[in-house]
Amino acid sequence: MGSNHSDWDEELSRNTKQRRHNKNRRDLSKDEKYHQKESEQFIKSLDKADSKYGWMKEKRYNRMFKEIEGGLSGVMGDGPFEWVDRRVFDAVFDRLTLMSLYKLMKSGIIDTLDFPIARGKEAHVFHGTGLSGPVAVKIFHTSNAVFKNLLQYIEGDPRFGGLKRRHRDVVDIWVRKEFRNLSRLAKWGLAVPKPLGVHKNVLVMDYLGTPSAPSPRLRDVKVADPEPVYIELLEFLAITWQKAGMVHGDFSPYNIMWHDGGPVVIDVGQAVVQSHPKSQEFLVRDVTRLVEWANKAGLDVELAEAMFEVLEMDLSHVEIQEEE
Ligand SMILES: Nc1ncnc2c1ncn2[C@@H]1O[C@H](COP(=O)(O)OP(=O)(O)O)[C@@H](O)[C@H]1O
Ligand SMILES: [Mg+2]
Repeated sequence: MGSNHSDWDEELSRNTKQRRHNKNRRDLSKDEKYHQKESEQFIKSLDKADSKYGWMKEKRYNRMFKEIEGGLSGVMGDGPFEWVDRRVFDAVFDRLTLMSLYKLMKSGIIDTLDFPIARGKEAHVFHGTGLSGPVAVKIFHTSNAVFKNLLQYIEGDPRFGGLKRRHRDVVDIWVRKEFRNLSRLAKWGLAVPKPLGVHKNVLVMDYLGTPSAPSPRLRDVKVADPEPVYIELLEFLAITWQKAGMVHGDFSPYNIMWHDGGPVVIDVGQAVVQSHPKSQEFLVRDVTRLVEWANKAGLDVELAEAMFEVLEMDLSHVEIQEEE
């Protein structure tokens, strides 16, 4: 993963430069006809460049793709032979993914996909723009290897039993699961990005960050006053367990963003309900990670008391904000 990461960093900075370059060029040439020609050449070149993209020439896809092409230009470069992140494009935007984006664009949840902000284990995350502001678009990889690992979280969750486990289905179930988990946590008033839409392997949610960069992760910041943050995160785990009846399952400073001076928890696809056979094991692991973070930040807290708090904390003041 290490070398992949630095590739990705390089790619991101190259992409940013290229995008600026493309933007300048765009400003120089506003001639409509020129753009139309370029777009036609682009569609034509898809066929030549790689037969894998031949489907885009098919009439209905061609029409569809032309419609969303403008919205995708931020992640594609502008001209036919300038796919700045062609490798990213290949890995992420297969036919079904483009169709999902099309759906989400048609329904107004996404207007444009602007630039990549992160590459996680299972997904690429993009900055997008929706009708009412910036959105985060998490596009899950659909390659086989990664998802074997995810099956353990789905098997044993009674909400997702009895489904055919074709690979693509597993990805789609996973993404819907993340969407539902986000909704459930948000309904209990917990600090998570609000889910805005989902289609197949694409999840859209509130964007956390500035117009140019996402907020940092908790692991990347030094919190001046860690005690209230520890208490807030302990309460997060307690409400998630006692009230929402769930456990996050991958609660770490990598999956907590530091946004507007407070923690916001992300990456809840693997969260499971209490009846899952491993829910208690996951809970102990989550609390352990929090205590480790607190200790590193200089707080004198222990696992046993933290566990007790999560299980027994008085939460009678916490109420669901809306029925599920
Ligand atoms: N809502 C969001 N707003 C801004 N950035 C986000 C958002 N969600 C995720 N990210 C960025 O994408 C990265 C990967 O997201 P995550 O959900 O943790 O995916 P993975 O399952 O691949 O780890 C995060 O570390 C964060 O930098
Ligand atoms: Mg993550």
